[in-house]
Amino acid sequence: MRMPVIKCENLCKIYKLGEVNVQALRGASFELYAGTYTLLLGPSGCGKSTLLSLVAGLDVPTSGKVYVRGEDLSGLSVDQLAKHRNKKIGMIFQQFNLIRSMTVWENVALPYVFAGMSLGARKKRAMKLLELVHMEKYAHHLPTQLSGGQQQKVAIVRSLMNNPWILLIDEPTGNLDSVSANEVMEFIKQLNEKSKRTILLVTHNPDYCRYAQRIMYMKDGKILSIEGGRPATASQTEVKDKKATGDELSEEALEKL
Ligand SMILES: Nc1ncnc2c1ncn2[C@@H]1O[C@H](COP(=O)(O)OP(=O)(O)OP(=O)(O)O)[C@@H](O)[C@H]1O
Ligand SMILES: [Mg+2]
Repeated sequence: MRMPVIKCENLCKIYKLGEVNVQALRGASFELYAGTYTLLLGPSGCGKSTLLSLVAGLDVPTSGKVYVRGEDLSGLSVDQLAKHRNKKIGMIFQQFNLIRSMTVWENVALPYVFAGMSLGARKKRAMKLLELVHMEKYAHHLPTQLSGGQQQKVAIVRSLMNNPWILLIDEPTGNLDSVSANEVMEFIKQLNEKSKRTILLVTHNPDYCRYAQRIMYMKDGKILSIEGGRPATASQTEVKDKKATGDELSEEALEKL
């Protein structure tokens, strides 16, 4: 039987704010398979960002389990959890979270700094990734010299630096005009179609359903339903048939973008 890349089982999360308990997740369960692109829709405050943070291993559930390729995150040591975040997960947020004092290429290369890679290797991979989004000519600019859409593209390719299995993307277009937003959404779709990333993307925008294969609806801390979005492309069917596991963003996969 095919193993999900991510399996969440009955996730509950309670935030304690002084005397008050905020129940952000109330038994959220779902599975994601390799190479699929899933949209997570739901009203403000229903727990979408909380869910992403648990899958990313940035926070721990109050109860319930997150499995990544069958591995229970609650069984990992602090070091193993840090590796999980760095190597397996790429995260992209609404506020691009770029470092203002670093150039564009240095921002992209940052995950390689933490991985202890050489300057040459960092720059080579960062430049290659910037080419994917046609941003190589801005490599030596500062983030503040770029438009919002350009900054988000930089943040997206930074998340690819370590070849993550899974991209967790939270409201990526919330700060963008509609033209930039569509460009960013198109690029994310290509990442799924051509380089087989497994993607979970949070949005408020139902128009984006056309980009994804599955739509998960969330309300009051639970997954209400999971429906098909657009049909899987031939290449995605191939991924499923080969029981692929969300392989790395290889040089070969990069060429296809
Ligand atoms: N760090 C925190 N401390 C306390 N409460 C929190 C924290 N993070 C989230 N919450 C609460 O948990 C609930 C779910 O929040 P969450 O941010 O996951 O919702 P969301 O679906 O992402 O909302 P939005 O669409 O507005 O981004 C909310 O009631 C929120 O106030
Ligand atoms: Mg949120």
